[in-house]
Amino acid sequence: MCDYKLLMDNAKQASKMSYSPFSRFAVGACVLAKSGKLYTGCNVENSSFGMTICAERCAIFKAVSEGERTITAVAIYSPNADDCNPCGACRQVMYEFQDDDDDIEIITENMGELVVRKLSEYLPYGFKI
Ligand code: THU
Repeated sequence: MCDYKLLMDNAKQASKMSYSPFSRFAVGACVLAKSGKLYTGCNVENSSFGMTICAERCAIFKAVSEGERTITAVAIYSPNADDCNPCGACRQVMYEFQDDDDDIEIITENMGELVVRKLSEYLPYGFKI
């Protein structure tokens, strides 16, 4: 249990930095690391479409590159869609940085209400070496 609203507020703020001229679908994310620090990210698209990175992975990679190794919660927000859920690639990346005895909380917003789900609901039987 964490401050879901704080995470969502940060995800909303991050979505304003989205670089998404091709899809015009802005996304922001905020990651809570085990250290207690927050890391935000937005989707960053590219003319070579496959090079695009999602907001969630942007935020997670920022956290990991700052020395974090464990993520406990991720908030995701798009001004273009209610209940903006993480894509399959981002689910797998979250799974990599989940503590063995934990289940990452994923927070979305649906019609103004926060929705909290577990990574195990999104990605049962995840793969990890
Ligand atoms: N996108 C994200 O940022 N996160 C997701 O989980 C799904 C998709 C972005 C990628 C692309 O810039 C745009 O949304 C449309 O797919």
